[in-house]
Amino acid sequence: MYRITLPEIGTFDAWRDAARRALAAKVRPEDILWQRGAGAADLFGTEATEFPDVASPDRVTVPKSFLSTVRLALWHRDPERFARAYAMLWALQSAPRLFEDRGDPRVSKLNALAKEVGRDKHKMTAFVRFRDTGDRDAPRRRFAAWFEPSHFIVEPTAPFFVKRFGDMDWTIHTPDLTAVFENGVLRFAPGIEKPPLPEDATEELWGTYFRNIFNPARVKLKAMQAEMPKKYWKNMPETAHLPEMIAGARARAAEMQAAAPTLPPLRASRVTARLSEDRRGPGEVHGEDRLADALDACRRCPLWQDATQPVPGEGPVDASLMFVGEQPGDREDLEGRPFVGPAGAVLDRALDQAGIDRATVYLTNAVKHFKFVPRGKRRVHQTPSADEIDHCRWWLDLERERVRPALIVALGATALRGLTGSGTGLLKRRGRIEMSGDQPVFVTIHPSYLLRLRDSDQRLREEAAFHADLRRAADHAAHLAA
Ligand code: URA
Repeated sequence: MYRITLPEIGTFDAWRDAARRALAAKVRPEDILWQRGAGAADLFGTEATEFPDVASPDRVTVPKSFLSTVRLALWHRDPERFARAYAMLWALQSAPRLFEDRGDPRVSKLNALAKEVGRDKHKMTAFVRFRDTGDRDAPRRRFAAWFEPSHFIVEPTAPFFVKRFGDMDWTIHTPDLTAVFENGVLRFAPGIEKPPLPEDATEELWGTYFRNIFNPARVKLKAMQAEMPKKYWKNMPETAHLPEMIAGARARAAEMQAAAPTLPPLRASRVTARLSEDRRGPGEVHGEDRLADALDACRRCPLWQDATQPVPGEGPVDASLMFVGEQPGDREDLEGRPFVGPAGAVLDRALDQAGIDRATVYLTNAVKHFKFVPRGKRRVHQTPSADEIDHCRWWLDLERERVRPALIVALGATALRGLTGSGTGLLKRRGRIEMSGDQPVFVTIHPSYLLRLRDSDQRLREEAAFHADLRRAADHAAHLAA
């Protein structure tokens, strides 16, 4: 019997390396005992043994689908996962197409493990809540979070957080492993028991935000728990109110229904809402207003200092399409609304050509303040820096969570960076649909690119291409929302 002890960090690479060597030495699956971690107990009392040396191990070829499945499945808590993966690798040598047979119980088990790990990774990206643990004046902000994953997913999921929160220092504590990101370097440390983390100033915002997007008429407890299992609730500030909101949901839904026939027509109710908004005192704001208020107080980067006001997104919160631009321009800065200047006119025309009603989509920007340099009486647009985009992602993420559109359209490189973490290679990526978290992002140009074209033929061609992009995006969103 051979015993292989895999490290807690780099487990997948170590398994692959050992599996290659075992295969080359023709060691049968039943002759290997796989373990993970320094403290792994040797139940059978066998000595650690190296495989017999093979002068030049054969190249091992496996189907891509096997490799991508194993890449996930090996982070599962199932103690047999390494053995299952090696047994499959062994079997594939004599039956190379075996992995295509979904009916084979060994194949379906590995696929099931991979699926559970994939789901757990997704939960981690969605439910980790950072708390501010640093000094506000320090050059890099510092955050910490506590999370309890179902499987060993910290290592394979940490790169997501590096990409998303590369501009700050953070630590994610879990019972198995701690991921630490400091000055741009990721490292891992042993897991710990839940640490006492400070309350976060943003906690109240999350709570208010969540209470306000909560629609009692739409409560589907089972679906909600499937998506956000109860075990995660305790570590998420916004869910502190869930039990009480769920308890009251039926009554509130009934109240809403009873009130419905007496509501004034929609236009009248909008006007009334505006009037009462104007009369509302501080502290009484809710929903989008609360978000706009919080945005007003934003000091995450210096852009607020010269801008007239931040410009939040606008549009229905149940929109299936969300458009993300770069930043407000001169007009937007003065009016406090997105896309109301020259680029907005180009966008309006394109929406019209693509058969999209502007009133049905959510329009916003990756950066919420106007960045400019004064030149005489004019304020000349400046492209936001990577840092400014990354700091402003906080707001964009809140809007994305609030609207949860079927499809997001990234207009230009700044939007693309805000949404996916990278804005490079825009033209190569144009027309593609990329995933950002669990949301699809359609990539296209910014409408102001068309404003800069001097050659009228080229401009006509580019306009037509932009209209075609938006048509494709609308078709795709309709398909996804169906
Ligand atoms: N350009 C943008 O990207 N957004 C606006 O809101 C206006 C111009």
